[in-house]
Amino acid sequence: MRIAVLKETAPGETRVAMTPETAKKFISLGATVAVEHGAGATASITDAAYSDAGAEVGAAAAVVKDADIVLGVQAPDPTALAGTKAGAWVAATFDPFGPTPVQGRDRVEAYAKAGLEALSMEFMPRITRAQSMDVLSSQSNLSGYKAVIAAADTYGRAFPMMMTAAGTVQAARVFVMGVGVAGLQAIATAKRLGAQVSATDVRSATKEQIQSLGAKPIFVESVEGIEGEGSGGYATEMSEEYQKAQAELVSGHIAKQDIVITTALIPGRAAPRLISDAQIATMKPGSVIFDLAVAQGGNVEGSVPDQVVEKHGVKIMGYANTPATLAADASALFARNLYNFLSAFWDKEAGKPVLDEEIGDAVRLTQGGAVVNERLKG
Ligand code: NAI
Repeated sequence: MRIAVLKETAPGETRVAMTPETAKKFISLGATVAVEHGAGATASITDAAYSDAGAEVGAAAAVVKDADIVLGVQAPDPTALAGTKAGAWVAATFDPFGPTPVQGRDRVEAYAKAGLEALSMEFMPRITRAQSMDVLSSQSNLSGYKAVIAAADTYGRAFPMMMTAAGTVQAARVFVMGVGVAGLQAIATAKRLGAQVSATDVRSATKEQIQSLGAKPIFVESVEGIEGEGSGGYATEMSEEYQKAQAELVSGHIAKQDIVITTALIPGRAAPRLISDAQIATMKPGSVIFDLAVAQGGNVEGSVPDQVVEKHGVKIMGYANTPATLAADASALFARNLYNFLSAFWDKEAGKPVLDEEIGDAVRLTQGGAVVNERLKG
């Protein structure tokens, strides 16, 4: 069983899908591990660290030659995988609903054509036993943290209340919109920095979570939201009536905020628009909005990936790839997710992983030359 890892090629991608720690663990399962020269450089991992862990380090073509499994953060172009074994697995993020052909559906078709078995880590089911394999959670958690840190850095004032000889500095007011994994970490981070934090979501189950972190829940009460955790804990598109009530509630609240962090996503769709230009105009000059959904179409009108846009004196920002700004930690967690996934299914006798139906069918996009995933059919 040969497991290969290439240097990521997507612009701005700094993460790597295997660390020396997981290389060692794969080797103890009986696998051979090969890593492309320089694959870990942007995540502060040297070639020597991989070699010391027992991995082969070499040129891309040599690394993928005869590989049974290729690991990636973002799925490599299938042309880079010539030389792998027939039907080799590629476990990575594929962004199968992504807007650009480089990710998206075209890439999935190309994998089918190349006879590769694409395993899409974003399609990991949200079930308890798969929690340790979930790259969306591990990366969102870091993103939520980073959004607050970046917003705090851009904000021209301090976060905590400070009583000084020269007078009092007021605590910043932070509002988090969308309380999934990223939102919860954003609340916790803003609290740790001393801000006054409030938060909202369409899922009523988040109300208690917000309170348990010491923040104030701001919820639409007049129209029904999503009760409980919904399908796999994900949100769906809300009714027009709800959207209108939400917009009114947000308009009243947002004008008093210094920092707004938006994190709302709906799987397979563009991110919902949560803040309009008219609402931005009601905010105080010097306020900062960090749009974590900017790469998925944006929650905030006017947000542009990797730019700080100033509108009505408010700075609107967001990164195209937030976890890539914390490359070492993001890689360590991503690599562990991949290891937890493959090792959970490791068949000692066969010397390779054998996926079960529940998880295998959920993550498998292509097999035997065809697109086989239910979510991509029809
Ligand atoms: P996500 O990244 O898909 O969305 C972020 C948040 O935005 C969600 O809380 C969503 O409800 C909210 N949102 C969507 N539309 C909105 C709107 N119009 N206005 C305000 N908020 C809106 O969500 P994420 O972070 O993936 O987590 C969703 C849930 O899944 C959480 O409850 C989480 O605990 C659960 N989960 C369970 C896992 C497991 O059991 N293995 C793994 C990861 C998450």
